[in-house]
Amino acid sequence: MTLRIMSVVGARPNFMKIAPFVEAVAETNRAGVAPVFEHCLVHTGQHYDDAMSESFFRTLGIPRPDVDLGIGSGTHAEQVGRTMIAFEPVVRRVRPDWIVVVGDVNATCACSVTAAKEHVRLAHIEAGLRSFDRGMPEEINRIVTDSLADLLFTTDATADANLRAEGAPEAKIRRVGNIMIDSLLKHRPAARNLNLDEIAAQRGIAGVARPAGNLAEDGYAVVTLHRPSNVDDPAALARIVAFLADELAPKLPVVWTLHPRTRKRMEEFGLWRRVAGCEGLRLLDPLGYLEMMRLNLGARLVLTDSGGLQEECCVLGTPCVTLRPNTERPVTLREHGGVGELAGNDPVSMRRAVDRAMTMDKRPRCPELWDGHTADRIVGVFAELGRGEA
Ligand code: UD1
Repeated sequence: MTLRIMSVVGARPNFMKIAPFVEAVAETNRAGVAPVFEHCLVHTGQHYDDAMSESFFRTLGIPRPDVDLGIGSGTHAEQVGRTMIAFEPVVRRVRPDWIVVVGDVNATCACSVTAAKEHVRLAHIEAGLRSFDRGMPEEINRIVTDSLADLLFTTDATADANLRAEGAPEAKIRRVGNIMIDSLLKHRPAARNLNLDEIAAQRGIAGVARPAGNLAEDGYAVVTLHRPSNVDDPAALARIVAFLADELAPKLPVVWTLHPRTRKRMEEFGLWRRVAGCEGLRLLDPLGYLEMMRLNLGARLVLTDSGGLQEECCVLGTPCVTLRPNTERPVTLREHGGVGELAGNDPVSMRRAVDRAMTMDKRPRCPELWDGHTADRIVGVFAELGRGEA
C-alpha cells in the first residue's frame, strides 16, 4: 500500500513547519509499517535569498526540494498566478494522493487552489487561524485554503471553533497541536549554545556602526517587522521608528533584525539614516533559525508583527508586544494564558504595552498539544488513511 504525498513550501515561515512533517514521514517509512509514503517536496521559490530560504533548509535538515518553481517576488496576483501556472503541470505529472500545505503565505493559497482544481485531496497544517481582518493578505490565504481543504489540522480550540463557525464538517477538523513548536523544541538546545555577541557581530549590517558594549542576558529587546500595514505605510513606519529610536533604545538596547522588505521601505521613505545613525539600535541582517531563537531566549522582551514569533515567545516565555491591532493567534495573548499584548503601532499603546511587558517574569506558557509531537500525530492520520482506517 503506497500513499503519495506532495508537500509545499514557499516562504520563510513555512520551513520550520514542514521540517518535522518531512522527518516524521521518513521515520514512518524506516519503521517499515504500511502504508509506504512516497513523498515529493515542492518549493515555490517565493523566498529565494540564502538568508530567507537555503539557510533554513540546512539548519532544519530539510532535504533538497524535488521541484523548485523559482517564482520569486512580485505583486500578490503575480506571485499567486505564477505559482498556479508552474504548479499545475507538476501536480499532473506526479498525481499525488494528497497535497499538504502549511501556514498562510501566497504559496499556500496558490497551491491549494491548484490542488482543488486538479481534484487532488488537500490537507492544511495550521488551519482555522483567523484575524478577522481581510486587510491582511494572509487572512485571504487562510480563508481560501481552509474552504478548499479536505483535512484541517489545527493548533488549538479557537481554530476548531472558527472552522465550525464557517461550516467546516467535523470530520475534517483534527486538532494536532502546533507543528512549528516541534522544530522549536528540537533545536532549542543547539540555539542555547550560541553566543549572543558573536551573532550580533557576525550579522551586523555592513556599513552601519555598531553600538558599543555587549548584549546582556535578559537585558535587551528584539524587534522584527515586515507586515505591509506597518512597513508599507510611511506614517506608520515613521511612528514605530520614532518610538524605538527615541523612547525604547535610550532605556534598553534594541536589536532589530531587518526583513528585506522593511529595509527597502526605510530607504524609500527617507528613514534609513535615522535608524542607521541611532545609538542603542543594533541593526542586523535576517538571522538564521537558531540565531533568532538564541536572541529570543536571551531577550527581556520581543516587539514583533510576526505570527510565528508570537507563538515562539509563548513557549520560550519571552514577554511579547505584538505590533498589530489584532492577531489570528489569540492563545498567545496574556488574557488567554500567553505572554503577548496587542499594541498596534500608535505610541501610547506601544508605550503602555512595553511598560507592562517589562514587569512580567520570563516563564514559558505552553498551550495544550504544543509538545513537540504534532508531526507524529499528523503522519498518524495519513497512515490511517493509507490503511483505509480513517
Ligand atoms: C511573506 C508572507 C508573510 C510572511 C513573510 C515572512 C505572503 C502574503 N506574505 O511576506 O505572510 O510572514 O513572508 O517573511 O505570502 N525579498 C528578498 N528576498 C527574498 C524574499 C523577499 O529580498 O528571499 C524581498 C523582496 O523585495 C520582496 C519583499 O522582500 O518584494 C517581500 O517578499 P514577499 O514574498 O512578497 O512577502 P513578505 O513580506 O516576505
